[in-house]
Amino acid sequence: MCGIVAAAAQYNIVPVLIEGLMRLEYRGYDSAGLAIIGDGQIERLRSVGRVAELAAAAATTTAITGIAHTRWATHGVPSERNAHPHVSGAIAVVHNGIIENYESLRRELSAQGYVFTSDTDTESIAHLIEATLQTEPDLFNAVQRACRRLVGAFAIAVIDRSQPGRIIVAREGSPLLLGLSENGNYAASDASALLQVTRNMVYLENGDIAELTAAAVRIERLDGTPVERPVHVSQLSAAAVELGNYQHYMQKEIFEQPDALANTLEIVGGSKSIQPGIFGAEAAHLLADIDHILILACGTSAHSGLTARYWLEALAGIPCTVEVASEYRYRISVPNPRQLVVAISQSGETADTLAALRHAKSLGQMKTLAICNVPESAIVRESALRFITRAGPEIGVASTKAFTTQLAALFLLTLVVAKIRNRLSAEQESNYIDQLRHLPVAVNKVLALEDDIRQWAQRFADKHHALFLGRGRHYPIAMEGALKLKEISYIHAEAYPAGELKHGPLALVDANMPVISVAPRDDLLEKLKSNLQEVRARGGELYVFADGDSEIPASEGVHILRLPEHYGELSPILHVVPLQLLSYHVALVKGTDVDKPRNLAKSVTVE
Ligand code: G6P
Repeated sequence: MCGIVAAAAQYNIVPVLIEGLMRLEYRGYDSAGLAIIGDGQIERLRSVGRVAELAAAAATTTAITGIAHTRWATHGVPSERNAHPHVSGAIAVVHNGIIENYESLRRELSAQGYVFTSDTDTESIAHLIEATLQTEPDLFNAVQRACRRLVGAFAIAVIDRSQPGRIIVAREGSPLLLGLSENGNYAASDASALLQVTRNMVYLENGDIAELTAAAVRIERLDGTPVERPVHVSQLSAAAVELGNYQHYMQKEIFEQPDALANTLEIVGGSKSIQPGIFGAEAAHLLADIDHILILACGTSAHSGLTARYWLEALAGIPCTVEVASEYRYRISVPNPRQLVVAISQSGETADTLAALRHAKSLGQMKTLAICNVPESAIVRESALRFITRAGPEIGVASTKAFTTQLAALFLLTLVVAKIRNRLSAEQESNYIDQLRHLPVAVNKVLALEDDIRQWAQRFADKHHALFLGRGRHYPIAMEGALKLKEISYIHAEAYPAGELKHGPLALVDANMPVISVAPRDDLLEKLKSNLQEVRARGGELYVFADGDSEIPASEGVHILRLPEHYGELSPILHVVPLQLLSYHVALVKGTDVDKPRNLAKSVTVE
């Protein structure tokens, strides 16, 4: 995960930048860089490898203003020319996130004579700010104007050699906070990078821009409105992960999803096509003649597998079975050496998943792939192929951002397998990649529904049971919604494919049984609507998560929440978000221990 550190102070800030980058090392990275203003020049140092190497290169560098960055690029060879900061004329920029319209910006800026020297989307931000400075000489105003043209998710920090002593930072989607102290002001991706110099933190909101000098900080909105943001005194111990403005880790992690997805999908970079190599050097060879996919996982991770099954069979045309790891490891199954065994796990240490993987291998099934959030974990080490999701540390027991990043990874797997099997045209591939790239922004819009969901939550607090309905690829999303509600609010919840309603659960429906329905506009919507009528006719109260263009009218006993964008195949990734928020707010109303629900553990490393 990329990390940003920036400092403007009355003393040499190079050691602060280096220490800050070291504090962000846990996020994972493969190249690092910094830029400072010295003698009226931008001095830039970049290196592929550890921050310690950058530190050695910067040993004699001194400056009072500078920006620094760690970058994790798994697409292609991480290279010095792709490492940040990126420079254009007098300015240097570091960036975290994905710029969706970078190609059109690149065309426009190239036509103006700007020469691109990297493959990154970040370089277009640097040139765009430089170009804006030609008509708007003040750096703050120029960055503000340039940011208004960026589509996507970003946190940036900018310096200008002709305006030394100033740093401009801005965020939309990716995290960024300020650190304030008497002899300097700082910015970073998370508080742990700044504890070395201050505990006084200001969390920037999406759409904020700030100017830092050694003496002062000024914050505005990107539209020019001035804002005040409260100073928060960090209680963070060096090893912990800060809660920031959030009440619970689960809430924080739900809101980190745009960034977690952007970081996970960074592997696709600016490319129009996806190569098998994103799953490991051996992937092209190992995936070439598979005839089946077996997915093994537990809990939430198993639900991501169940969702992927719909994608793999429909788009890649490959049969897929998903099995709960604790069942697979003990049953007598028919081994198939040509099948790809996929172990999905947030922690990479879940005992049942690890044992199921080992069991699969012991049966001679050696084509194995780990989809995991922890690079050094046992499941990753023991699999032939790997994809590391970049959700960042997940603390809340109820898994959220790990789930959506697993889905993103599994969709990439679907595209790779579909391509190998000649089931994907170049145009389809490029359209799906565009959709993936837009996901962080789309999820951000869904998160904006939190206030409406909070109101719904009040109505669940006195309920003892709830039913979740979905169809097709949204049935596993209904299962995940039910699991979330069970885990943290202790309300008994069950998920059913809506078509099964009449085969049993309808007998349970009455005014005390809220029925939550995942109802995106897809081929099954009309069928789902009749299922909903069946519920309504029995006095059941319906809570429907629809798409903006779904024609389901609200009426008495039928509550509708519309997601802003219709998202086709990738819709499950959007539709799970309001279900996470619903269970979180129901748990708040009920006053349960959200992050550590009774009887449950985050990582189940024993059987
Ligand atoms: C525990 C956690 C769940 C998680 C499951 C699988 O039950 O409470 O949130 O989904 O383990 O964990 P894994 O780390 O393998 O994804």
